[in-house]
This record gives sequence, C-alpha cells and structure tokens, in this order.
Amino acid sequence: MIICSCTVITDAHVETALIEILNQPNAPLPTPGVVFRHLSKKMNCCGCAPLVVTKIYELVDKLEREGRVCPYASANTKIRLEKLNVALLRKPAAARPAHFCGPASVSELTSV
Ligand code: FES
Repeated sequence: MIICSCTVITDAHVETALIEILNQPNAPLPTPGVVFRHLSKKMNCCGCAPLVVTKIYELVDKLEREGRVCPYASANTKIRLEKLNVALLRKPAAARPAHFCGPASVSELTSV
C-alpha cells in the first residue's frame, strides 16, 4: 500500500527501513523524517505524516511480535516516541512542528 504519494513510499519500504534503523547500535528514534532520510527521500507536502506515524507505531509492534527487531530496542523506541509526543503536547499548539500529528492530548496518549 502506498503511504506517501509524493515520494511513492509503501508500507513495505517503511517496514524495511524500520528493520534497518532499529537494528542499528544506538538506533535513532524512527520519526517520519528519520525513516524518509533512511530511504533517501524527502517529504514534500507532509500530507502523509499522520499515516506514516500510525504505520511506524503499528510496524514497530509487528516487528517486535515477529522477533525481527530486538524487543529492548522496540521498547526503548516506544518509550522515546511517547516522551517526544508528551514533550510536544506540553508546548502550545502554535509552537509544535507543522507536521506534528501525535495525539491531541496527554490523556489520549496515555490511554493507548
Ligand atoms: S504525501 Fe507524503 S510528502 Fe506528500
């Protein structure tokens, strides 16, 4: 399934990128920007950002269940993504990055 129509990135591309990113020593946080850079692509309109974030969360869980990424790396990634979302949610909406597409509130984040 195509996730980004501007760059023609599919969920399979994102999955492959996540495997490669999360299996690196000191893996970076797999934000959409990190995933796109890993794929040598650059976001254009950012219209896909919410879908990319959702896919990253889904795929990290899937890859962990399948044993394709280290469970410690996966858990560390989830904790860091959650902290990033909390930090961004504490900022006024106008101060968040234009492409921020995390949960609308901290309570929504912790209910997931
Ligand atoms: S749809 Fe992904 S950058 Fe435009």
